[in-house]
Parts: sequence; C-alpha cells; structure tokens
Amino acid sequence: MLKSINCGELRLSEVGKEVTLAGWVHRRRDHGGLIFIDLRDRSGLVQVVFNVDVSEQAHREAAELRTEYVVQVHGKVAARPEGLINPNLDTGEIEVYVDQLRILNPSRTTPFPINEEVEVADTLRLKYRYLDLRRQRMQRNLVLRHRIIARIRTYLDQQGFIDVETPILLKSTPEGARDFVVPSRIHAGKFFALPQSPQQMKQLLMVAGLERYYQIARCFRDEDLRADRQPEFTQLDLEISFVDSQDVRDLIEGMMKQVFADVSDKRLQSDPFPVLTYDEAMSRYGSDKPDLRYGMELVDLSEAVAASEFSVFANTLAEGGQVKAICAPGCASYSRKQLDDLQAEAQAKGAKGLVWMKVEADGLRSPIAKFLSAEEQDAILRACDAELDGLILIVADQPKIVAEALGYLRLQMGERLELADPDVLACAWVIDFPLLEWNEDEKRWQAMHHPFTSALDHHWPLLDSEPSAAVAKAYDLVCNGMEIGGGSIRIHDQGNQSKMFAALGISPEEAQAQFGHMLEAFQFGAPPHGGIALGMDRIAAILADETSIREVIAFPKTASATDLLLNSPSPISSPQLKDLHIRVAE
Ligand code: AMO
Ligand code: AMP
Repeated sequence: MLKSINCGELRLSEVGKEVTLAGWVHRRRDHGGLIFIDLRDRSGLVQVVFNVDVSEQAHREAAELRTEYVVQVHGKVAARPEGLINPNLDTGEIEVYVDQLRILNPSRTTPFPINEEVEVADTLRLKYRYLDLRRQRMQRNLVLRHRIIARIRTYLDQQGFIDVETPILLKSTPEGARDFVVPSRIHAGKFFALPQSPQQMKQLLMVAGLERYYQIARCFRDEDLRADRQPEFTQLDLEISFVDSQDVRDLIEGMMKQVFADVSDKRLQSDPFPVLTYDEAMSRYGSDKPDLRYGMELVDLSEAVAASEFSVFANTLAEGGQVKAICAPGCASYSRKQLDDLQAEAQAKGAKGLVWMKVEADGLRSPIAKFLSAEEQDAILRACDAELDGLILIVADQPKIVAEALGYLRLQMGERLELADPDVLACAWVIDFPLLEWNEDEKRWQAMHHPFTSALDHHWPLLDSEPSAAVAKAYDLVCNGMEIGGGSIRIHDQGNQSKMFAALGISPEEAQAQFGHMLEAFQFGAPPHGGIALGMDRIAAILADETSIREVIAFPKTASATDLLLNSPSPISSPQLKDLHIRVAE
C-alpha cells in the first residue's frame, strides 16, 4: 500500500516510529522554516510538519501544496511539546516530521470548501457530489449507514434468514404508486417496470419454501418527492412463513434495539415499543405516524361544547362531526398575525377555520368567548388541562379533517416550542389499520397497505357488508414522527385473494391478467406468511440527525427527480429509440 498506517490512527504509542501516510491536504499553515499540514484520510486528521532542518527538499516541495492535493509523506512520529497538544483531535498528542514528500495528484480549487462545515447550495453539492461526500459530515453519514446495514445483516443471519436477490426488471401492476418503466427491445410495445418493492417476489419465495427471506432492496416509485421520499430508495425487505403479527414485530423490535445500541448514543424513550391502534393514533395525535417525544395530544371538546351557542360547533356536532383542540403551552402572547397564519395553515389542511383561546389570568380570551357560558369555558379548560398562558386551538369538522388539521398544528407547535428531544428515539407500533380506504377521485375502494394484506380472520365477511369497517393484519413502525417501516400478514389462499381483488373493483379477468401468477401460486400449498419492509434511508437519517434522507444517500436525486452529477434523465439517440420501438411525441 501507499501508506503504512491511517492518519487518524496515530497515537503516542507510535512515537519514534517511521510511517508512510497518504491522503488529502486538509489545511496548510506556512510559518517560513516550518510548514504545517493537516493531512486527512477517511480515518481522520493528523498534523505533519515540514521542517527545513529535517529535509530541505521536502520543505521546498511543501511550499507548492494547496488544499485537496493528494500526497504521500514519509516521516517520523514525535510527541507534541506540552502546550501544543490539541485536545480536539484524536491524534492531537503527536505530529509527524516529514523527510519525503510525493505529490500524487494536485487539485483545482474546489467549488466549495471541504475542510469546514459551511452552507453550500444544494445544486452545487449535488453537481460535485464526489467533493460533497469528501466532507466530514457526509463521510460520517455514509459510515453510519454502512454500520446499520452491517448490524442488520449479522442479526438476520443469526436468526436464520437468507439473503435472496429479486429482479429489477419486473412487471407493471396497478395499485400503488406510478411505475418507472423500461421498454423492451426484443418485444416491441412491451415494457418491464422497476419494482416498487419486492412484495410479490418475496411472497413467492415463501411459496417456494424459503421460510425466512431478507434483502437490502432498492425500490423505485415515481411519486412526488419530499424530504423523506426519493424516487429510488432502499428497504430492508423481509418475509417469514408460519408467523403472526406479534412474531414479526418482536423480531424487528429486537433487531432495531440492537442497531440503536450499536450505532447510536440516542436514548430509547420506551422499551418495549408502545403499541397504538390506528384509531387511537389518529384520535390522540391526528396522525398514523405520531411523534411521541412530546404530548400536546388532541383533546375532544365535543362534550364540553355540546350545548354551545356558537353555531359552528353546534352545527358540526349535529352533522356527526367533532370539536377537538390542542393546547400549546406558553403561546398566549401570540399576535393577531401569528394567529391568522395558524388559521391559514389549518385551512390549507382542509379545516374551515380555527378558533383560538388564550388562557389568561382573568379567564379565557377568544373571539368566541361571548358564546360560551362560564361552565363551558371551565369545561374546556379542564378538558385541555390548560395552564396559564396556554393557547388553545380548536377545529370543528368531520374526524378526518380534524385529525389532519390539528395533527399538523401539533407538529408545527411542537417544532416551534422545540418539544422534541433530538437525543431521544420514540419508536412505536401502529396496528389495526383499516384494510381499505375510499378513493374519492376514482370512486372505489383501494387497499390501505397493499392488496396482499390480510383482513382479520373474522372480518372477511365485512368486505361484502361494510368494507370500511374491515381491519387489516397490518402494522407500521414509527419513530420520531416518521413511518420507518410497514408490513402485514398476507393473504395466502386463492379464495380470499380473489375476494380482495373483487373488493378493489378488479374484475376476475383483470385479476387473472395482472396477478394470475399469485392466484395460481396460492393453489400449490402456500404457507401462511407475513413480513415487513423498513425504510433504510429514513432510519439512517434519524440516527444521523439529518432532516432529509438525501443526506444519507450517496448519489440522490433532486426534488424534481434529476441527477445533477450525471445530468440525467437525458435524451437518447434516434437509433436507440428506434431499437426500442419508441417515438417521442412532440
Ligand atoms: P411500504 O410502501 O410501506 O411497504 O414501504 C416500506 C417503507 O419504505 C419506506 N419508503 C420510502 N422511503 C424513501 N422514499 C420513498 N419514496 C419511500 N416509500 C416508502 C418507508 C416505508 O415504511 N412491500 C411493502 C412492505 C411489506 O408489506 O412487507 C412496502 O413496500 O419507511
Ligand atoms: P365565522 O362564523 O365563519 O365568522 O367564524 C368565526 C370563527 O370561527 C373564525 O375565527 C373561524 O376561523 C372559526 N371557525 C369557523 N369554522 C370553524 C371550524 N369548522 N372549526 C374551527 N373554527 C372555525
């Protein structure tokens, strides 16, 4: 190798030894007869010294060095004199006196500094991603991600799982997000689709008798991007035969605890992970992925205002709606403008309005106070458990909109008040999801999870009578307000699978055409099975204290799904198009 030891590994124990180092010039200080370089490789930094008295030639050559030059140095490790020790550096007790320098490759001036944490425009970072990834923060993130995956692989291997690869060229199916498709050259007018997840393949592996499968799988979904969504992302995908929901959850919970303990200093808020039903999560937090690091729960005021003169409340309740609130501590000083802004945010989430109430020393102050009796005001304060200076925010509407609006405001206020401890991991299971949800645009039921998820055994008849009431054997893992995993016990018999397709409005012919392979496989001794997929990017982002998963993906796409480094997507040549039987519409 071009080096005998890594820069960051040098300690007092190496003093007196001759070493060869190779790395990048992180920083350079020229003091005339002495030139100091912080030399960097992946392991860290070490100070190397060019002293005219040690080697006149090396000292002369060192004058040419600039940041990010790649160099090899040979020299002797020495203890730093008392007073010059740098306690902030792992190698701060030593330095290396260089007698030979070799410039392995010079560097142009980089478009942004590598050696300090400065704000750099995302577009520049992504265009020069290889330089961005040289920075300490990104190196740390990628190493962390590697360690998470390494720990997972060891754990699953010990638990008897085998890693099986599944195809990237797959088949387009309805249901789910939009597909990325790949045209076939050999079969004109036909297309593969990239997998949105290996869902069907892993179930077929269960039919194949593999019993315990896992894969660190790349998934592709052509959907609108956000901080926690990329068009291609990575799942820990797994599937197990002969299990129920509890077995899958226990296994994953055990794994996550080991990962956390191994790679993170963060504290687990609750062990075991709490289990919430979907209904409970929606009603208490207005979200199926609640951030449980703080309270500020939604409280139901329906009873407290049942007889209220305020017509909005009375009418909403008469129409079967709810009146609910959150109480933000210490926010009674909010200005008119701040309150108007909150109302606008609630309205953007579908609410018709937002009532505010300030808890002041001499009582409640609110535009609707005059419509509320003293008893009603008291009942509201009690229901909210409100303290002096609290700001109560009330939405009256159908439950779905109340949850949407107040769930959002809860997160907003939680963020403003910094209620979430960044050093805490609040994991929880959300279970008992509805099997189906109504798609208002298409006027049909769709699977809340996916069409292979089983209903509770005794809920199958509900598909005919009351589809909205059918509960799925599905579970999500949430952490700090993010959905980090989702899975279910699957349908494993052809009868129920056909019934499910019918409930989704898929005709028997269409089911045969799209999913015939699944229906057929289930007729050859398919074992009961279930599984889960965890979002590796999201888990890594949480543990790395990053708000966007882009920061834990080596080469991510921009928010508009482009790659600025490779300049893709890009046009392809006419002969290529012709080969693929494709004509681009003008
Ligand atoms: P699901 O669609 O819930 O389930 O995905 C599982 C987990 O993958 C992560 N995830 C994403 N991460 C980044 N960018 C995206 N665009 C994105 N979409 C999803 C989330 C999510 O919880 N086959 C089923 C799993 C199963 O049933 O076993 C599935 O894919 O963290
Ligand atoms: P209005 O009767 O429309 O003038 O509204 C009076 C106050 O009630 C305003 O502050 C509105 O924002 C609020 N408001 C109206 N509809 C609702 C609702 N559904 N939930 C909560 N507040 C509402």
